[in-house]
Amino acid sequence: MISKKIDQAINDQIKLEEQSSRIYMAMASWCGVNGFPGAAKFLYTHSDEERMHMLKFVHFLNDRNGHSVLQQVEQPKAEYRSIKELFDEVLKHEQLVSSRINELVDLCLQEKDHTTNNFLQWFVTEQIEEESLVQDIVDKIKLLGESMGGYFHIDMYLSGLADAEAAAEE
Ligand code: FEO
Repeated sequence: MISKKIDQAINDQIKLEEQSSRIYMAMASWCGVNGFPGAAKFLYTHSDEERMHMLKFVHFLNDRNGHSVLQQVEQPKAEYRSIKELFDEVLKHEQLVSSRINELVDLCLQEKDHTTNNFLQWFVTEQIEEESLVQDIVDKIKLLGESMGGYFHIDMYLSGLADAEAAAEE
């Protein structure tokens, strides 16, 4: 049986993962209409991954006799000044998700909930990978500069990353 505190904290995390999925879908849509098809493909794939994260929490909580209750989520931002601004925000958002996962782990340690702590370790590893992936993209954007040629290469790179992620999941 899961404690009320952890039930609430996981429901808050479900909201954050759903919000992440919507933010990345909105970003993908912006990329799609602003000439970045590769970035759009990458972000649509990432949006699906966030929904998968959300579902993992939903099933876990219900399997532990908790109750996953979906909450209202905010409307994501629709406009960006540049692809650089957009990916800087992805990185900040992933850093926020990592800090929330760490807080959840802290709460499990306080509550002596080893089962949930064990479940959360998958997310701890996932966040290391996600932050590192997005940091690489942000570094590449800096390296290539904000020029048309640079943008073209970034978009090709993101398209390749999306294909690699899709192939890894098959
Ligand atoms: Fe589910 Fe990208 O954090």
